[in-house]
Amino acid sequence: MKQFALVIAVMMSLQFMNAQENYVPTEENLDARKWFQDARFGLFIHWGVYSILGDGEWVMNNQNIAIDEYEKLPSFFNPTEFDADEWVRMVKEAGMKYITITSRHHDGFSMFDSNVTDYTIVKKTPYKKDVLKLLAEACKKEGIKLFFYYSLLDWHDDNYFPRGRTGTKIPGRSTSGDWEKYIAFMKAQLTELLTNYGEITGIWFDGHWDQKEWDGKRFGALRVDWHYDEIYKLIHDLQPHCLIGNNHHIAPVKGEDFQMFERDLPGQNTTGFGTDVSDLGQLPFETCKTINGSWGFNLKDRNHKTSRELIQYLIKASSHNSNLLLNVGPMPNGKIQEKHVNSLAEMGKWLGKYGASIYGTRSGPVQRGDSIRSTQKGKEIYIHFLKKQGGDVSLKGFKAKIKKISFFGSDERIKYSLKKEILRFEIPENKYDEIDTIVTVTLR
Ligand code: GLC
Repeated sequence: MKQFALVIAVMMSLQFMNAQENYVPTEENLDARKWFQDARFGLFIHWGVYSILGDGEWVMNNQNIAIDEYEKLPSFFNPTEFDADEWVRMVKEAGMKYITITSRHHDGFSMFDSNVTDYTIVKKTPYKKDVLKLLAEACKKEGIKLFFYYSLLDWHDDNYFPRGRTGTKIPGRSTSGDWEKYIAFMKAQLTELLTNYGEITGIWFDGHWDQKEWDGKRFGALRVDWHYDEIYKLIHDLQPHCLIGNNHHIAPVKGEDFQMFERDLPGQNTTGFGTDVSDLGQLPFETCKTINGSWGFNLKDRNHKTSRELIQYLIKASSHNSNLLLNVGPMPNGKIQEKHVNSLAEMGKWLGKYGASIYGTRSGPVQRGDSIRSTQKGKEIYIHFLKKQGGDVSLKGFKAKIKKISFFGSDERIKYSLKKEILRFEIPENKYDEIDTIVTVTLR
């Protein structure tokens, strides 16, 4: 009997993990994946009416704000200082190649013009403008690619029923609803997002985990059918190149085009929700990370990472064969905190000099914890020393044949020896850089 129940449970969970089973990526899609991997660095933007409260994008859940109370926020949302061109300029100067912005977060508020709901920036705020439209235009002008984050989970919509594990204490949520209608609503919105904003390079889903059983320790089966088969097909039919990623914290399923990691590098699981090493798939990787400690604007968050930490994280991500999607949470007036703008500019300056060791690279052959990382592009291996090494450097397991070794950007050769796959050379004290000392190994 027990076994029978188990079989049924497994069948149910499989049934609910409908993926785009017969998906074969198109040529354009494969090209987009290659572009994506080469790009290595993008800006994540969490922006919504929650920014008014300065307490992150989960404020509705965290402060248990009732539906009708939260509904007042849009009437205060008037980001008169928002300038899409300025954001895109900042992105370019940071050396980033794309933007992923929240089109609708868990609060259910659409930051774009939608015909299938009134709960939108255009219909409910004094600002009235479609910020995604403005951003799409600015991105197009500057050759910056655009991704839309889209929440599967919704704390506002009556039809998001059964409700998930989160937002359970939000007063005023419905006690009944029509799941199929909710799916139809999401499909209609995704159609709008992929029809009205020109070329969209990717869709970034989040919230899947809200519908997983949770016993306080472990996740169990999924309680709903997200209809990924239909949703992914819809997206790929509308824009075949469009890269689908889903922050479901499990290994990718059919129909997805990249694998994402939240606040963790691929193979790490410090947060508890990263996918583990055994789940690393063949798709391009992307790691997302906050510039401070929050996604949405948080007034009291003083955990700003230094530009050194950020640059080193970008290097680590590249060495893990992953992009870095670095997040900022704009303020309710449409501005991005000056501290963050400055850190991004610092990153851009660094990339202006050392970008060749990041863009277009893949993971390199030597990695040693947090102190030595490597990237590779064709015959050039870039060994990044993130910490000073005492004495000679010796790197084990170096199999390739070497033509020469030099400091990045310099013709001056470094003397080395390569015996029994151990590469040895010396980095003089005065050659060490605060952030990253890059040694270029050119292969034969
Ligand atoms: C989490 C949070 C969400 C945030 C996302 C970014 O899933 O629910 O607020 O958007 O991480 O990775």
